[in-house]
Amino acid sequence: MGVAVPFPNTQPTGYEWFEDEPVFDPERHLQLEEPSEVITLAELGYDRAEIATKATPVAASSPFRMLSDEGAAVLLAVARRLRSFARPAGNRIERMTRAGCYRSRWLRDLCISQEVSNHLERIYGTAVAPHPMPVHLGHINYEPSSIDAAIDKWHHDTLPLDYVMTVTDPARVPGGRFEYFLGTKHEAADLAARDRTPPPERTAVPDFAGPGYAIALHGDMVVHRAAPLARLTERISMVNGYVTLDTSIDEQSRTADLIIVDDHESLWTEWAKMAAWRARGRLSDLIEGLDFTGDRDAVIAELESAVGDVRLAIDEMRAGERMTEHYGG
Ligand SMILES: [Fe+2]
Repeated sequence: MGVAVPFPNTQPTGYEWFEDEPVFDPERHLQLEEPSEVITLAELGYDRAEIATKATPVAASSPFRMLSDEGAAVLLAVARRLRSFARPAGNRIERMTRAGCYRSRWLRDLCISQEVSNHLERIYGTAVAPHPMPVHLGHINYEPSSIDAAIDKWHHDTLPLDYVMTVTDPARVPGGRFEYFLGTKHEAADLAARDRTPPPERTAVPDFAGPGYAIALHGDMVVHRAAPLARLTERISMVNGYVTLDTSIDEQSRTADLIIVDDHESLWTEWAKMAAWRARGRLSDLIEGLDFTGDRDAVIAELESAVGDVRLAIDEMRAGERMTEHYGG
């Protein structure tokens, strides 16, 4: 079963379940189809050594259908209801709602759906689970208040894997397209250092056929954005996070960026559980795999690596707020 940390049975203070929602029904609400194409990290220019430490060699899929018409209609209704909780995400996104899975059981059950996880697992080619931190599940972006602003600036995600799904019908939205850079994070950083952003000729603009279509994304490795709108109109997308179940690879999250974004009562607890889950996996590997050795430094290194995510979580929680990273408009 693809579960890293089970979704909590309790809610943080201030979160109430929506009443009168339909119950999520995979038979009625999902319509999972295969993407026609997958682009790899190697094709974006990453080298083999770097790819080997990441969740999957996959960079992104082409858009594929995930929700039925009925499912897409329910998601739109849920997203509109969650708009009243929208606020800025640091200096990157003007309006978004996070932690909606503590308010909408329908959204929660979509985001932790085993059917969807299994589908993504086939696309990514590795065992995945919904992200252990519920603040990363069912993240919803709304249009900004002015057409000059990108809906979300060029960035890579604060988590390893996700899908990006159209909630409103892209055919009715002028502009506001999801775009990704056909290059590496390192190239994007070099461009940003020269006050430049990814050029159009090196940008992919996937064509989403309707609401409820998604692309699977290696969010930590693919630099992407939602472009500005051509005319101000309702434009909603949803992002749901995943991790590989293999705790031996890189963690690929920037959780400290969330200190200025998420409610602290959910953040500290979820963060601690993620770090504990990662360390448990790595400590188990150490118990099973460590051979007799007189090499003290090698053993210390193994132990440090096993608890590295816990040490980092402690240090970053203590250090407190930092600004959200991005590569410009
Ligand atoms: Fe993103």
